[in-house]
Amino acid sequence: MNIITNTTELRRILAPVRQRERIAFVPTMGCLHEGHLSLIRKAKRLADIVVVSIYVNPMQFGPNEDFDAYPRTFDQDRELCEKEAVDIIFHPQNLYPADGMKISLKVNELDNCLCGAARPGHFDGVVTIVNMLFNIVQPDIAIFGEKDYQQLAIINRMVNDLQMNIEIVAGETVRETDGLAMSSRNRYLSQQDRKNAVFLQESLKKVTEKIKHGGDDKTSLKNMLNDEKAWLESKNIKVEYLEMRDAASLTLIDELNHTPARLFIAAKIGKTRLIDNIALEHATIDMSDSVTETRV
Ligand code: PAF
Repeated sequence: MNIITNTTELRRILAPVRQRERIAFVPTMGCLHEGHLSLIRKAKRLADIVVVSIYVNPMQFGPNEDFDAYPRTFDQDRELCEKEAVDIIFHPQNLYPADGMKISLKVNELDNCLCGAARPGHFDGVVTIVNMLFNIVQPDIAIFGEKDYQQLAIINRMVNDLQMNIEIVAGETVRETDGLAMSSRNRYLSQQDRKNAVFLQESLKKVTEKIKHGGDDKTSLKNMLNDEKAWLESKNIKVEYLEMRDAASLTLIDELNHTPARLFIAAKIGKTRLIDNIALEHATIDMSDSVTETRV
């Protein structure tokens, strides 16, 4: 496994490889867990060469979010990548110009809701760095987890709108045995909070079941979501949102039979903010348009 910290060096190594082999890319901010490893395994199945980037991107942290406190666990990440037979780790020190970025990308509309609403500018930082990493690695495919579904939908749209010749592949959320979605933030949960955290996934499942059997009455959806929020609040969980949205456009929907739809939740358990989401009737983003034709 090669560990590369320099952009020019990475380009030099990948240039001849690209002629004959398929390159899969898994961008991460490190602190790898089973969720990331499942993306890496998927990448291994779909391509010949797997590049994993480990870079804590300052631009996606807001002024009140502690970039410095984000866990950096490079030695452990390196060992995990080694075990998964990753070909290249790209671990740059800094990707931004010393005098700051004078050009960057901006997300329109798709970040007005869900986590984007609570974290202004976050997804601008994400698309800018992902675009930069795509330009450096120039992969054939890139894998993103469904756990951060809004991110996946935005990246998918970026690739479409900017005519990028990269296939975006979604990786299913990996869960603990009790159903809690794996996240680097789970480590911050106290013992009691960890027990309560499982209610997020339980609520998503409960609402999904009710929706399946609930006909198509708009009021009943609103009531179902309100009842579920109240139940979570009774467990000391502060719900930021519990919403049903279109799986691709992320627009809010109020029809129970809308498809493709997804249910989203964000909540604070103790001091830790967790997110989760689930497909309704197995709805997933249609990724078929992601690979664009060569421009003429
Ligand atoms: O999902 C993440 O870890 C980050 O948002 C990403 C895609 C690596 C960009 O910094």
